Parts: sequence; structure tokens; C-alpha cells
Amino acid sequence: MKILVTGGAGFIGSNFIRHVLAERKDYELINYDKLTYAGNLANLAEVAEDPNYTFIRGDICDAATVEAAMRGCDAVIHFAAESHVDRSIYEPAPVIDTNIKGTFTLLEVARALRVERFLHISTDEVYGDLTPGDFADESSPLQPSSPYSASKAGADLLVLSYVRTYALPAVITRSSNNYGPYQFPEKFLPLMITNALEHKPLPIYGDGKQQRDWLHVEDNCRGILRVLEKGRAGEVYNIGGLDIEENLTIARRLLNLMNRPESLLSYVKDRPGHDRRYALRCEKMRVELSWKPMILLENGLRQTIEWYANHTAWLADVRGGEYRSYYAKYYENRDSSLRDVVPS
Ligand code: NAD
Ligand code: TYD
Repeated sequence: MKILVTGGAGFIGSNFIRHVLAERKDYELINYDKLTYAGNLANLAEVAEDPNYTFIRGDICDAATVEAAMRGCDAVIHFAAESHVDRSIYEPAPVIDTNIKGTFTLLEVARALRVERFLHISTDEVYGDLTPGDFADESSPLQPSSPYSASKAGADLLVLSYVRTYALPAVITRSSNNYGPYQFPEKFLPLMITNALEHKPLPIYGDGKQQRDWLHVEDNCRGILRVLEKGRAGEVYNIGGLDIEENLTIARRLLNLMNRPESLLSYVKDRPGHDRRYALRCEKMRVELSWKPMILLENGLRQTIEWYANHTAWLADVRGGEYRSYYAKYYENRDSSLRDVVPS
């Protein structure tokens, strides 16, 4: 099978490419990536010479280069996105371009070339803010809250419209919050880990009682491969870690594992429109595709801490230019303006 992977230089995409090259010796992967601030070919250094792997630099909004890359492929796995909620709040335009227009461009080319499989990677955030104790299954309503989650929900609906209208054999996965090696340190877990490694404060938004379902990226990659190979066209599959925790609990657990004091917790101004709870029901993956998460959060956190501690050169590299100015603009401000919410 020849697969076009979009966004393969990012966090989940690069983990997926390494996973598939190790697990499927007869698959050929083409990584199509624009290399935005979040895309990093160093994530794929160990497979760069693999004969089953090729890299093409390109934007998913550019139909001509997408078509040249997709021609001859049996399947498309679409990871490419502007993936950070905070950035989508500060600057929504690139999020709408890539996540909606980019997905539309891919769908149009896939339709014209009659690709046999189109796997769209989406998120639990499309279900929006759940009430305490509630879980979302694949038929729950889409009620996104941020420009990021709205753009992902819009893309999901476009994909489903291509299934219905043009019989495009597409399928969607909606996963919960991923964590693990190679995650860009703007997201919660790698930010907390890397700050704690350097004895810097851990910025906790609001009261820190927001709940997320944590999924190790390797469990997600196994699930995505299962859906690619066995999922039914036109269907949506939730992929969750089934471990739902408050942010504050996770931050405290990290500090404990890293032998750092709780005084590093720093309560900062909340994110506008911040969803309190995400939680997935994943019966469909379990019953239909015999998938379940294998990595316990405690073990995954230990492994991830160790990975960041051992990859200081990678970290210094991704924290160069663009990250530095983003962090200074949005985070240093928050740190100093705070302590306006204190948990009970
Ligand atoms: P990421 O930000 O680490 O990587 C995104 C990749 O897409 C980067 O390599 C970037 O260069 C590339 N890209 C961005 N715009 C592009 C464009 N216009 N053309 C081509 N390439 C472009 O993201 P991630 O965390 O790996 O997420 C991958 C996918 O999974 C996204 O679709 C995201 O919405 C979804 N998702 C992520 C999570 C999570 O916890 N990280 C959870 C659920 C779903
Ligand atoms: P994030 O990693 O941005 O993922 P998402 O918003 O897509 O779930 O954030 C995870 C949770 O952590 C979310 O509730 C926001 C919170 N958070 C903080 O408390 N501090 C931070 O510095 C960041 C980046 C996130």
C-alpha cells in the first residue's frame, strides 16, 4: 500500500510514520508537510534513509503540489493541521486556512484521483464541553468552543459530506489528548515537563480543574493503523486513553515523579472559552476493531519525562526563534498577571 501522510513531521504524524515503517514492511509512506513551526524533520531522523519513506515539502492548501504528491497513492492519512487551541484564539486565520481549506483541497484531489481510502484525523474537542460525568460517543452532537475545534468540526463535516455525496471511501478518527515523545512544548504535558526539568513555574489555567482524557501517542498510532486497515468507510471512531484526570492532578503527579516542589504550580489567567471536560466513549474501537489503550498513564508519564530529559538538544532546537517569541508574547505576560484564581 502506498500512503500519502499529511503533517507527518509533527508530533502524532512522526510517531505514526515510525510505527508503520516498523510494523508494515510492505507499506510505502510519502510524508507531505509544510514544515510550519510545529513540523520538524529531526523527529524522523532515524527513518530518513528508509527506502519505504519519502518526504515532500508542501502546503495542503496548494492543489497542484497536493495532486502531484497524491497521484499513485492508495490511501491518504490526513494529520496536517494547526493544532493548538491557544494559538487558534490568538490568531485564527491560519487555523481556518489549513484545517478547513486544506482539508477541502485534499478531499477534492482525493475525489478526482479516486483514492481508495481517506483517513481524516480529528479530535474529541469537536464534541465541546461535556457536563460532569458525561461521555461523548461517535453520535454525540458537535459543539465546538474554540476556533481550533470549530475548524476541526467543519473539516469533519466536509469529509462526511464527501462520503455521502461523492461516495469517497473516507473514515474519521477522533482522539483525546495525546502525549508522549516529540510533542511540541506548547501543549500542556510537554510544557509542564520541560518547565519542571528547568525548575520553572508550571502555568495552570484558571482553577486547574478542567478534565482531559490522556492517550499515549503509541496507543493512538496503533488505533489509527487499525482504522486504516479495518475501519468501515463513512464511519467515525473515537480513540481515547480512558484515563480522565484534572489538569492539576496531572501537574502534581509530574512534580512528584520529578521530585520538584508544589510551589512551582503557578495559577495563571484562564483561557477564554476554556472547555471544562472532554471524555470519550470508545466502545466502537473495542468491539469492532479489538483496540484498547495499552499504556497506563503512570508508565507513560515516566517514559515521557525520561524522553524529554534525554533530548535536550531536540528541545533547544524546537524552542528556537518562533517558539521563543510566542512564549514571550503570550506566556510571560500570563505568568506575571496572575494568581487571580486560587483553587480551594
Ligand atoms: P502538530 O502541530 O504537532 O503537527 C502538525 C503538522 O502539520 C506539522 O508537521 C506541520 O508542519 C504540518 N502542517 C501544518 N499546516 C500545514 C499545511 N498547511 N500543509 C502541510 N502541512 C502542514 O500536530 P499533532 O499534535 O501531531 O496533531 C496531528 C493531528 O491530530 C491534527 O489534525 C490534530 O488536530 C489531531 N489531534 C491532535 C491531538 C493532540 O493531542 N495532539 C489530539 C486529537 C487530535
Ligand atoms: P492543551 O495541551 O492546549 O490541549 P487542549 O486544550 O487541546 O485540551 O491543554 C490541555 C489542558 O491544559 C487544557 O485544559 C488547558 C490546560 N493548560 C494549562 O493549564 N496550562 C497551559 O500552559 C496549557 C498549554 C494548557
